Amino acid sequence: MFKTKIGNLDLETCIYNASGVYCVSFDELLKLAAPCFSNSVILTKSCTLEGRIGNNLPRYYDTELLSINSSGLPNLGYKFYCDNARIIKDHSEFKKPYILSISGLTLEDNYKIITEAVNNNFIDGIELNLSCPNIIGKPQVGYDFTIMEEIIRKASEIIETGRDARLESGSGFLFGLKLPPYFDISHFDMACDIINNSNVQSLTCINSIGNGLVIDTEKELVAIAPKNGYGGIGGTVIKPTALANVHYFYRNTKCSIIGCGGISSGMDAFEHILCGASAVQIGTHFHKKRNVCFKEILTELGSIMKSKNYKTIDDFRGKLVHYK
Ligand code: DHB
Repeated sequence: MFKTKIGNLDLETCIYNASGVYCVSFDELLKLAAPCFSNSVILTKSCTLEGRIGNNLPRYYDTELLSINSSGLPNLGYKFYCDNARIIKDHSEFKKPYILSISGLTLEDNYKIITEAVNNNFIDGIELNLSCPNIIGKPQVGYDFTIMEEIIRKASEIIETGRDARLESGSGFLFGLKLPPYFDISHFDMACDIINNSNVQSLTCINSIGNGLVIDTEKELVAIAPKNGYGGIGGTVIKPTALANVHYFYRNTKCSIIGCGGISSGMDAFEHILCGASAVQIGTHFHKKRNVCFKEILTELGSIMKSKNYKTIDDFRGKLVHYK
């Protein structure tokens, strides 16, 4: 009922974690590998060349409606996530795909990590993160279309070369991007042009809305410490922006779309799929509810599908109705 495909990758269910939440340490990744949790992919924290401890605490805060984070890419370094792919995957009964999220601090770092990933047969793909808003002094690549085009072109070359070698072992490799939210149709179109001239296969829409400010009114204090309180906004309040991005990229590219943003119920997932998502990722709600959230959301989605007589998610994916 929940089977799906992103690029050439077959997934048992249409739900998994958003990068960043409970996917940094070995133990967290092992939990994502466990067969009992209904999530269909093990997606790592965005990695850099060297390990990082991240920004000062407090760096995460949430309310009913939203979250704000400025973690600053705490991660164990790309070698850890590459070298442990096999052992982590071995803990999942049907070998859930293992996808490496990459957010190198320079173009060269990204190319080095992509090369390592595509040459590792236990890694099933990458989600190249073009949208981290929390590194002091580093702009989001997804908002600079010149650099975005360059990184995608070079990453495509590396992946094509690596794929030739993988073909012999029979394993595919997913080339995905994690995009920032766009708010202007001219920017959607510029991003689509670049993507349509590349071999990118999947788009995760959206990363958090960058540089919001949340206030703890009791204390009259910014909610998080780094960057004077500015951080990436997630949770329920970003769902309309996420849906518009899923919808636009679904209609204007050939990529599989992975919806991310404001999903905490089966109905939220249903809306993302109606807009064209082939799968959904859970961030803020996963942070709140931990690994049980995947099964809960899928159960609700299953009831909605049953009530509407849909047997598979392809029965309604992208079928949002518009006024004539
Ligand atoms: C971080 C936040 C993001 O939204 C992202 O895409 C990558 C990293 C962070 O602060 O760690």
